[in-house]
Amino acid sequence: KTPDAHVPRDPRLIRLTGVHPFNVEAPLSALFNEGFLTSPELFYVRNHGAVPEVKESDIPDWEFSVEGLVERPLSLTLRQLIAEYEQKTCPITLVCAGNRRKEQNQVRKSKGFSWGSAGVSTALFTGVAMADLIRKARPKRKARYVCMEGADKLPNGFYGTSVKLNWVMDPNRGMMLAHKMNGEMLRPDHGKPLRAVIPGQIGGRSVKWLKKLIVTSEPSDNWYHIYDNRVLPTMVSPEESANNPKWWTDDRYAIYDLSTNSAAVYPAHEEQLSLVGGPASYVAKGYAYGGGGRRVTRVELSLDKGKSWRLATIQYPEDKYRDAEQHLYGGRLDMSWRESCFCWCFWSLNVPVADLASSKDLLVRAMDESMNIQPRDMYWNVLGMMNNPWFRVTISREG
Ligand code: MTE
Repeated sequence: KTPDAHVPRDPRLIRLTGVHPFNVEAPLSALFNEGFLTSPELFYVRNHGAVPEVKESDIPDWEFSVEGLVERPLSLTLRQLIAEYEQKTCPITLVCAGNRRKEQNQVRKSKGFSWGSAGVSTALFTGVAMADLIRKARPKRKARYVCMEGADKLPNGFYGTSVKLNWVMDPNRGMMLAHKMNGEMLRPDHGKPLRAVIPGQIGGRSVKWLKKLIVTSEPSDNWYHIYDNRVLPTMVSPEESANNPKWWTDDRYAIYDLSTNSAAVYPAHEEQLSLVGGPASYVAKGYAYGGGGRRVTRVELSLDKGKSWRLATIQYPEDKYRDAEQHLYGGRLDMSWRESCFCWCFWSLNVPVADLASSKDLLVRAMDESMNIQPRDMYWNVLGMMNNPWFRVTISREG
């Protein structure tokens, strides 16, 4: 029996780290076939430890605070947060910084476990703008960061991290505290009853089971902020990183914005394609996302190892929510206050079967509106994070 025996879970989820803690992704095709919004059952989970157990009757009284370098510290319950602050609903994609790490581990073992490419999920999150709370608490002149702390007690203390105060205050960055996901109370694995949602940045910044916002003049000194979610220079080996603290204390290596990334879902790895006698074309499909609210503006496919590329069509389901003036799940669905793109998009391309038949593999790469393009080469790093080279699928033939 694990400490999470109280948490209901879907048997389709693929476990990545044994029995405990719970770290899972859905089978990629099952995730993709759900479409734009991921159901809570198939939403990826990244837990560093046990899920805090909260009794149903205690949920409205869940306490959290805004403290540190503020003129007016706040102590609030979830009930007050819902009653006293404007509620918003926004579609947001969360992505673990370890998404696609399996490919890095195949080249050289990193310190992280092997995510496939389903460490990404999207939901309509309902809650309050983090900026509304911070504004109310009135940051002092030296304030520069907002630290967040969760209720999960881990071997190295509570899980926590930080983001910059000016990001929190920027409406185009959409940072929020959420209590609902797709109209339902958050599920235990996703932070029930309250979590931060930091759009466009790696999932590790979106602290679950949120207890505290602490305004500070320095980035978080939480163990998990320092020793997790970094891309160290590629020459730093596991031994070097363990022996030399300087790699961990330098905030230049901390990851915030996601990098531009994509994956093919069809064809899947090892999918047996019928390349003779069937239809004349095959619809290749997959997903892409950008970082920091940047829109993916092109997705390209190659069947000749990157010598030539074909342009795929992109669909942005997020756009249908963009200027909608309506309420959804008790929150104002109003994205006109931001011009950013915080969700995954879907690409597709009709490929003549004859072209697939004469190729060994299919390559995919995405580019964002700032022309950040996925690189050809992998940037191996000791924590195995932000892996985003061209996505490659081997073309397998039937028979
Ligand atoms: N918050 C707490 N309190 N504890 C955690 O272990 N994991 C982080 C983040 N917030 C974590 C946390 C990481 S690394 C990720 S990728 C996201 O939560 C995952 O969110 P999800 O499990 O809802 O998908």
